[in-house]
Amino acid sequence: MDENRSFPPTKEFSEKAHIKSMEAYKSMYQQSIQDPEKFWSEVANDLHWFKKWDTVLEDSKKPFFSWYKGAKTNLCYNCVDRHLEGPNKNKAAVIWEGEPGEEKVLTYQDLHREICKFANGLKSLGVKKGDRVALYLPMVPELIISVLACARIGAVHSVIFAGFSAESIKDRVQDSGAKVIVTEDASYRRGKVLALKEIVDLGIQDCKTIEKQIVVKRHPHKEMPCTMQEGRDIWYHDLVLDQAIDCPAEEMDAEDMLFLLYTSGTTGKPKGIIHTTAGYMVYTYLTSKYIFDLKPEDVYWCTADIGWITGHSYIIYGPLQNAATLMVYEGAPNFPDNSRFWNLIEKYKVSVFYTAPTAIRAFMKWGDSWVDKHDLSSLRLLGTVGEPINPEAWMWYHTKIGAEKCPIVDTWWQTETGGILLSPLPGVTPTKPGCATLPFFGIEPAVLSEEGDEVRAGILSIKQPWPGMLRGIYGDPERFKETYWCKWNGEYYFPGDGARKDEDDYIWILGRVDDVVNVSGHRIGTAELESINIEHSSVAESAVIGVPHEIKGQGLVSFVTVKEGKIADDELKKALNSLVAQKIGKFALPEKIIFSSDLPKTRSGKIMRRILRDIAEGKALGNLSTLADPSVVEEIQKQF
Ligand code: PRX
Repeated sequence: MDENRSFPPTKEFSEKAHIKSMEAYKSMYQQSIQDPEKFWSEVANDLHWFKKWDTVLEDSKKPFFSWYKGAKTNLCYNCVDRHLEGPNKNKAAVIWEGEPGEEKVLTYQDLHREICKFANGLKSLGVKKGDRVALYLPMVPELIISVLACARIGAVHSVIFAGFSAESIKDRVQDSGAKVIVTEDASYRRGKVLALKEIVDLGIQDCKTIEKQIVVKRHPHKEMPCTMQEGRDIWYHDLVLDQAIDCPAEEMDAEDMLFLLYTSGTTGKPKGIIHTTAGYMVYTYLTSKYIFDLKPEDVYWCTADIGWITGHSYIIYGPLQNAATLMVYEGAPNFPDNSRFWNLIEKYKVSVFYTAPTAIRAFMKWGDSWVDKHDLSSLRLLGTVGEPINPEAWMWYHTKIGAEKCPIVDTWWQTETGGILLSPLPGVTPTKPGCATLPFFGIEPAVLSEEGDEVRAGILSIKQPWPGMLRGIYGDPERFKETYWCKWNGEYYFPGDGARKDEDDYIWILGRVDDVVNVSGHRIGTAELESINIEHSSVAESAVIGVPHEIKGQGLVSFVTVKEGKIADDELKKALNSLVAQKIGKFALPEKIIFSSDLPKTRSGKIMRRILRDIAEGKALGNLSTLADPSVVEEIQKQF
């Protein structure tokens, strides 16, 4: 909270940056706030439109905003075709390395050809504009190709992170009504081979809308038997074999749905966040250009998984619209040893590197010797995303990885915002360790009290709509209004984060103010885990909280009481853990399960999660007189 260090960009960096000075930023920012329609209209002219818009922003149906109404465009066209005319057509679009070490390079022309073939393949299976296509794939080139092929023909992609369980696949496929799912026979992770298709087979067995499953072959058959269901399953390579290498890009309306991406909220049911075409396109294009300062000679590496929003916006859509060269790595950071990332940076001369605080903390823990062995001098810009970064990790990143010369962009945003809302501009903003600093163009943040007064520390809000914002929750417009527009008379967007504004008007993110926990940058609703726990026949009640975690940022702790006559033992802990793995995935397992005879409750029966958090963090508990039974506190305390 008392971080006073400040790190301005080097003169050398600023001179070459797209935006070079605070004056330039301030003047563009003022224009973007005073006349957003002019600003967003001008920047959109960099992109290709089959037809330009009639209006830039329509806000008559607030909070259901429309951007670039009347326009026709295609995001895949802007990511790929637009670069085929000029010098970039033979430039590497994707440099991929598999975990076992294979390498593959796709130029923009190659990427175009592969996308077209797969898009034609999808069409041959009857996929049409508006149909939903689920993608359950690890970080292989086919995932990028599939995403862009969907965008090309106007199919709505719904990427499901390949660490999710069969049940999570089922929930997402059923909610979206996907017609086709794309997966892989098996994937590599930390040297192990995981039978991915088996998980999907289980997940889709009760999904009536699925007509076809397309399977990417990653493994020789003899190693990994893979059963194909006659009539439903088809190999990716067979599907694309004879397809034409050209496929016209569908002329999409500005507000046609581009993708669905499921994320956790405060209830047990994940929400399908809707993003549409034109606004998301312009917003990811512009944020990538200015925040990552992308240049043709850059090799850009974002270590996120495409299964999350960061991979959508800042692996695929934003950087490719800027004709960047992407480095994409399939596997774990510590395979075959803890220096794999630094090895990749050295080998491919990565210049822009974007990762998560949780990864940085893990690298710190593994020790400097893994880094010291490598030449990281190609790096010129670093970024972080997904959770607050502690100043200690920031300083390590700055000195050890950035050699004290690379600006760090700490980017704050969400699945719902589509793109980055708060971030330093690398050639402009003096950074402070742990601070997301200032708003991007067109973004007007305010720190408000519950009553809507501007305060120094309170709840973050966003005053104006912006092009990349979500357009709704799939199938649930009411939940969209209730979740994001519930405060301050629906005037401002409510992201669910607490924030503080310092004397320089920099914004510091203080973490979630709702029951969402950020575990290694993965968002998990505590209500999701609670409802899983109480599905077990022995469990009477459960409360789940987030606690600080040295590496993951936050970890989960489950508190459980059992029913009369049931036994609370290690067997039950194991059973509850396997339920979580089965219903969500292993990444959502709690750090600890605590059994007690009761939970701390008010006299009216409301579970006091605040007290559980204080116990878990070893804080002073203060007055417990409002509790119905203060003795449970002691019983729980003994277990920490
Ligand atoms: O709490 C904020 C945190 O991550 C949440 C959004 O999670 P998700 O939708 O999964 O998207 C993550 C990647 C964009 C936010 O509500 N968060 C994200 N970035 C930061 C952050 N917290 C602090 N600093 C950040 N830079």
